[in-house]
Amino acid sequence: MSIRLPFTKKKTKEIESLKNTQNIPNHVAIIMDGNGRWAKKRSLPRIAGHKEGVDAVVKTVRAAHKSNVNILTLYAFSTENWKRPQKEIDFLMKLPKEFLHIHLPELMERNVRIQTIGDFEALPEHTKEAVQYAMNKTKNNDGLLLNFALNYGSRYEIIQAMKHVVTDVQNEKLHLEAISEEVFDNYLYTKELSDPDLLIRTSGEQRLSNFLLWQLAYTEFWFTEVLWPDFDEAVFKQAIEEYQQRQRRYGGI
Ligand code: FPP
Repeated sequence: MSIRLPFTKKKTKEIESLKNTQNIPNHVAIIMDGNGRWAKKRSLPRIAGHKEGVDAVVKTVRAAHKSNVNILTLYAFSTENWKRPQKEIDFLMKLPKEFLHIHLPELMERNVRIQTIGDFEALPEHTKEAVQYAMNKTKNNDGLLLNFALNYGSRYEIIQAMKHVVTDVQNEKLHLEAISEEVFDNYLYTKELSDPDLLIRTSGEQRLSNFLLWQLAYTEFWFTEVLWPDFDEAVFKQAIEEYQQRQRRYGGI
């Protein structure tokens, strides 16, 4: 079946600003889940859910910007997602370009910097080109960092990091005794980022699905039944407000 899915720039409804501007999470990471179920409920093909998911990304970026969150990491494609039907993969791989084609001017206006984590080289050329263009264009922006996890898998990331550590030890660039959590951090894709303060997962699933396993050690988790295409500023605000009530103890009392 072929359906036309025009991508357009839509206005989102303004939500009230956060009442409490203290204790805003510096880094919010999101597992965007439920696109397929959203489409199924409407008897639409799964890709219609992914298309609507792009609009939810736009709303979330606006909400994060408005809330003064500094880093927003979105799990857009995992190393396991290659197991999906080729047609769905092809559609998912076109989304960054579609998104950037329409929204890059707004991202520039909002001073957003785009970055990725994951095995970038293994992405299709057209995806890499579009994302690389946006990364270059936004590299001097110093507002919200919009970090797409693209072809990302945490176990792969850790294995790659471990191989680099071993190589550096063998080449005497690193002493075995010098390896610490901080040193290991520097071998991960996320080396320039602080760990997420808040992890959101949509669609009622409560698992990590190979996402940032090392980096989420002390992160607060927030789950919602809302399917990703229905996620909006109001749900984002709810997550932030619940986070603001949490007491983080990092193993202390
Ligand atoms: C999981 O839902 C979602 C994905 C694997 C894709 C996520 C991608 C987007 C939301 C769009 C990304 C946008 C840009 C701009 C890169 P699922 O398909 O597994 O849903 P299901 O569990 O209900 O089947």
